Amino acid sequence: MRHISFKNYKLHLLDQRKLPFEENYIVCQTVEDVAKSIKDMVVRGAPAIGITAAYGFAIGVKEGKNPEYIYKTLLNTRPTAVNLKWALDLMMEEGKDCGFSPEKLKEKAIEIHLDDIERNKKIGENGASLFENNVSILTHCNAGALATGDYGTALGVIRSLHRQRKLKKVFVDETRPYLQGARLTAYEMVKEGIEHFVITDNTAGLLMSGGEVDAVIVGADRIAKNGDTANKIGTFMLAVLANHHKIPFYIAAPLSTFDLSIERGSEIVIEERGRDEVAYINGKSIIPEKSPVLHYGFDITPGNLISGFITEKGVFNPPFNFNE
Ligand code: MRU
Repeated sequence: MRHISFKNYKLHLLDQRKLPFEENYIVCQTVEDVAKSIKDMVVRGAPAIGITAAYGFAIGVKEGKNPEYIYKTLLNTRPTAVNLKWALDLMMEEGKDCGFSPEKLKEKAIEIHLDDIERNKKIGENGASLFENNVSILTHCNAGALATGDYGTALGVIRSLHRQRKLKKVFVDETRPYLQGARLTAYEMVKEGIEHFVITDNTAGLLMSGGEVDAVIVGADRIAKNGDTANKIGTFMLAVLANHHKIPFYIAAPLSTFDLSIERGSEIVIEERGRDEVAYINGKSIIPEKSPVLHYGFDITPGNLISGFITEKGVFNPPFNFNE
């Protein structure tokens, strides 16, 4: 997937808002362009946001802008995914070490990008090893190639299961209001030739009660020390349903998504987005003009509802000790 590519200090981003109908690229030439693309969700998904910000940092330094300004401009785009800060901290550290050489920072951003792809492949292998044959997986949002450097976290596991011929089918939650599932996950499933069904977000209970779902696998935006996990709004409801039906519920995420500086999920800032994303579909209002909306981008799933955290280093449960 060539959804993030960097040439001559220009960042080419596949415009995910237009998928699956148009494969258009937005070209970012300034740090402000990159920040706007993250904010407006041209690119989204925790690891992909981090990688994009890393390239944005290199662009800003090449432009001769102040590193503190670059850092803040990119960090203040979206609050929930910790991968953004993780990547920017790495870039700032590298900048200090190399005297803010644009060339060296470009290399660092490429390293972060390629490293994420390798980690996803390991997540895929580690996740696939949890299952026997003929499994049906339900996933939410898009934790795929588009949300990462490539390959994906939750979809990385699904991809590996498919390649190992252990996968029966995938249920893809459409994921209101941005439809990351219906538009992006389904797009990736079609490209990979994986049998899937797009379902509305309120279908999961029916499928689970009918024994149709063997496991739920989703990604994450920030994982606290006790395992509480921020992910796309609706994830918490799925975890409760899975728990009720005694179906395993897994988070697939690289170590860059763990924020061990916070004890619990209540410390995570939940992004709130504008009214129009909920009130309009295809430019047409679907609610009364006078109705306000509440639009939280993420929710927190308590750690005790999560069966395991599939990472590049193996499958863990809190208290996390990644060196074991
Ligand atoms: O608002 P988004 O589309 O950036 O939210 C994305 C998610 O919630 C993903 O599940 C998460 O970032 C993990 S992506 C590998």
